[in-house]
Amino acid sequence: MNLKGRDFLKLLDFTPEEILYLLDLAADLKDKKKKGIDVSDMHKGKAVALIFEKTSTRTRCSFERACQDLGAFTTYLDPESSQIGKKESMADTARVLASMFDGIEYRGFEQAKVEELAEYSKVPVWNGLTNEFHPTQMLADLLTIREHFGHLKGIKLTYMGDARYNMGNSLMVACAKMGMHFTACTSKDYFPAEELVNTCKKIAAETGGSVTLTEDVDAGTKDVDVIYTDVWVSMGEPVEAWKERIDALLPYQVTSKVMKNAGANAVFMHCLPAYHDLNTEVGRSVEKKFGLKEIEVTNEVFESEASIVFEEAENRFHTIKAVVAATL
Ligand code: CP
Ligand code: NVA
Repeated sequence: MNLKGRDFLKLLDFTPEEILYLLDLAADLKDKKKKGIDVSDMHKGKAVALIFEKTSTRTRCSFERACQDLGAFTTYLDPESSQIGKKESMADTARVLASMFDGIEYRGFEQAKVEELAEYSKVPVWNGLTNEFHPTQMLADLLTIREHFGHLKGIKLTYMGDARYNMGNSLMVACAKMGMHFTACTSKDYFPAEELVNTCKKIAAETGGSVTLTEDVDAGTKDVDVIYTDVWVSMGEPVEAWKERIDALLPYQVTSKVMKNAGANAVFMHCLPAYHDLNTEVGRSVEKKFGLKEIEVTNEVFESEASIVFEEAENRFHTIKAVVAATL
């Protein structure tokens, strides 16, 4: 398997074999990290640009730490201080950065932007999250599920909440690719777009997976392996969205009742950050306006034995390292 020079823009662009290769590489790099084995020869002296038009904790830190471990330097461009978009097009930015860097990470708004960056850049471009997709998160999630259950094929994953956005879309693609059973359990206004659903159903028909959309919480969460949720209002969306989201999505909050219905062996996952208590500014402002003390997941579930969210967060680092190691 040779992925040198490949962009990493969305999982749809990769075969199940290529995804498995990246997961195996991540598992190997994780093992080496735990054993203290140095891998800095892999990309010694290379340089990577990290463009973040939205904020980040996990993705930015994972790219920076991964590059350090691989021997590469990083330059961070924050949401305010570069010319990108405001004074310079993606096509021009791509040609400038590609002349100075060996790889470019981009977190931003429309998927079309990261695709444009990749089109005009002669070095690999990695999608660190767009409105439509979050592919590096998918590798971490798949690795975490595989570590927990020992395999991916046949795993039943139910996503609750805003399934039309980056996380719902990406999980549906990831499950379809890997022969897993994906259910979006949410209000029908928040189902993923029909075109992507049809694409994923076609992929799932070949891999032995499936795609189901349901508004029924009992049926959608019964005897599944993974219950997954994400924030109801994503980065870049207006605060006014909270009211309609709470009205529509409160029945799809992940509670202990949901976890019990999923069964004793079910795990809870979340890409993070999560609103599960009042220890965040957003959490407190939602409580003040709407009286909700926890939003997409209850604190009881978040802090329970079934919750593997911090294993999942750690795996962002190992899987991003694998993407950089394989494609740079
Ligand atoms: N899950 C995730 O992408 O986290 P950050 O926004 O902190 O990067
Ligand atoms: N849907 C969330 C994911 C954060 C990792 C967002 O886009 O803000």
